[in-house]
Amino acid sequence: MSRSVNVAIIGAGLVGSAFISQLQTLRSSVTYNVILIARSSTALVSKNYSPLSLSSWGSDLAASHASAFSPGDLAAFLEKSPLPVILVDNTSSESLATSYPALLDHGISIATPNKKAFSSDLGLWNALFTVGEKRGLVYHEATVGAGLPIISTLKDLIATGDEIVKIEGIVSGTLSYIFNEYSTLEDNDKKFSDVVLKAKELGYTEPDPREDLNGLDVARKLTILARLAGLQVKNATSFPVQSLIPRALESVESVSEFLDKLPHYDSETAALKASAKDEGKVLRFVGKIDLNADTKVKVGIEKYDSSHPFASLKGSDNVIAFYTKRYGTNPLVIQGAGAGAEVTAMGVLADVLKIADKVGSK
Ligand SMILES: NC(=O)c1ccc[n+]([C@@H]2O[C@H](COP(=O)([O-])OP(=O)(O)OC[C@H]3O[C@@H](n4cnc5c(N)ncnc54)[C@H](OP(=O)(O)O)[C@@H]3O)[C@@H](O)[C@H]2O)c1
Repeated sequence: MSRSVNVAIIGAGLVGSAFISQLQTLRSSVTYNVILIARSSTALVSKNYSPLSLSSWGSDLAASHASAFSPGDLAAFLEKSPLPVILVDNTSSESLATSYPALLDHGISIATPNKKAFSSDLGLWNALFTVGEKRGLVYHEATVGAGLPIISTLKDLIATGDEIVKIEGIVSGTLSYIFNEYSTLEDNDKKFSDVVLKAKELGYTEPDPREDLNGLDVARKLTILARLAGLQVKNATSFPVQSLIPRALESVESVSEFLDKLPHYDSETAALKASAKDEGKVLRFVGKIDLNADTKVKVGIEKYDSSHPFASLKGSDNVIAFYTKRYGTNPLVIQGAGAGAEVTAMGVLADVLKIADKVGSK
């Protein structure tokens, strides 16, 4: 007999829409019944838990008068589902993330690319992974490197008894692009502010590029990896994180004023770039976890020799190197697109399939 699960999708933006498209064309022996699709202000809901039709979900959602669910209402609705439920959180909502432990306690499983629950307070992380009798499962592959198999690989290394020595990676597509363009092995006279502007024009940055330049997105991802590696990281600001926002511009309010003034500080990064070039190296913005170092987690600019895989990175690719006891001095390296709606949705959908395999009712 085939398995069935109910799926509740919160967030129907870039990733959410791609996720729904991929679910629609999925060929699987498991039946996935979508019972809820919600945005921040509206929802499409099947109150009797029968499957919603996905053929016109976009216009149906736009025309819906049902208001969005609070996390409490969501748990109350989902816990009465006659089939096991997987909640797919395609938002970046902090309040939804905070409600995960309660949802899991109601037996609801979660698949998400939302980093908030896993990179905020350590207490929330511990509450998520508490083992309980009827607890749901929580999978979050796409919180680091989008669809790249980074979290599953790290978990497999640890579960099979390997010892993590060091993890080093470029895990921001935006900062990957900026440094790959700015600091190259060949001579180039590009200015840091011009590259930032180009990245913004290409849609690689957040609407406010300072959200990329402050290093916090990388710090959140490093927090997740470090915790999986066994470190009790308090939060994403409890270790050194280098910000690329010049100190004098920290209090600037508008994005346009920030971008107008950024060229005045190009000389700071230009000096670094020149000193790397003199040594035959390039600059990259990386996160490092070193279990044997005094400072075990840190995020910032590092220099890499031309022979290093990080030096030849192109475009906005992510790359991560796992140094472990088994892999010795030649790390296990994973590289590829680390952002984009389609690849992120793939990571989320793959998690949904794994959960359904475990919880789907026969
Ligand atoms: N895009 C990527 O390449 C990428 C890569 C890796 C990870 N991620 C992560 O994936 C998540 C989604 O990213 P995205 O690019 O799809 O963002 P997005 O386009 O801004 O979509 C976010 C969606 O969430 C909805 N939403 C926000 N708060 C909500 C709430 N409290 N209740 C219900 N719905 C809510 C929004 O509703 P409205 O439509 O009403 O605004 C919107 O539909 C984020 O956590 C992001 O960090 C994205």
